[in-house]
Amino acid sequence: MRMILLGPPGAGKGTQAEAAVKRFGAVHISSGDMLRENVKSRTELGLAAEKYMNAGQLVTDGIIFGMMRERLERDDVRPGFILDGFPRNIAQAEELDSLLNEMGLGIDVVVLLEISDDAVVARLGGRRVCSVCGAIYNVVGHSTKKEGVCDLCGGSVIQRGDDVESVIRDRLALYHAKTSQLVEYYERAGLLRRIDASGPTDAILACLDPQRDGV
Ligand code: AP5
Repeated sequence: MRMILLGPPGAGKGTQAEAAVKRFGAVHISSGDMLRENVKSRTELGLAAEKYMNAGQLVTDGIIFGMMRERLERDDVRPGFILDGFPRNIAQAEELDSLLNEMGLGIDVVVLLEISDDAVVARLGGRRVCSVCGAIYNVVGHSTKKEGVCDLCGGSVIQRGDDVESVIRDRLALYHAKTSQLVEYYERAGLLRRIDASGPTDAILACLDPQRDGV
């Protein structure tokens, strides 16, 4: 399965990708997680990306292209992958097409997780993430068993710096201005599948099943 998960911030891309790799296999490649890892380790790439991320803006394509090319050229990607957060604009989609073309690979399906802006703001206000393993929680409906402690690794659970309402609104505006252009791009390529992302996580996961509609 080679899948792109598309959708606004907070649509559930990371949540669904993590569940899908456990259930169906393939590797989860999240551009946001890779960037946050670089910021945490204070790498040159992380230092260059940090100011854009804190402001809810896109990191420059030059930084993203190099990082994603290096990741997608690793051997573990060949059997299958789920891309989360990349591509994010037309230039990135074209770069991905040309890289996969060089590798003799293609995308099977692009899943668009659809949700309203108000639901996103509510969800992201309650999101908490593990600072060690990246596990995703929510104070509403999916909290940790012990407050502030990750159920999976015992790491401390925090609120992401870009999950404050003003930055969430900026990220949403950017999504509507740039990333949503990819809907038409992948619709034209006959790859787009739309899923209502406002329902329960299990029902959404069932829609990602590779056996469904020949993914
Ligand atoms: P990134 O990390 O990609 O953030 P994002 O796209 O804004 O997406 P999120 O991680 O906020 O949301 P998600 O859809 O994964 O939702 P989640 O599953 O966590 O990017 C961060 C920044 O990095 C960007 O702003 C940019 O600066 C930079 N960047 C990254 N990629 C880039 C690129 N390609 N080019 C340039 N810059 C780039 O779920 C959210 C919450 O909802 C959680 O609490 C979860 O528990 C809950 N939830 C999920 N599903 C459900 C459900 N069905 N019902 C109820 N609650 C649910």
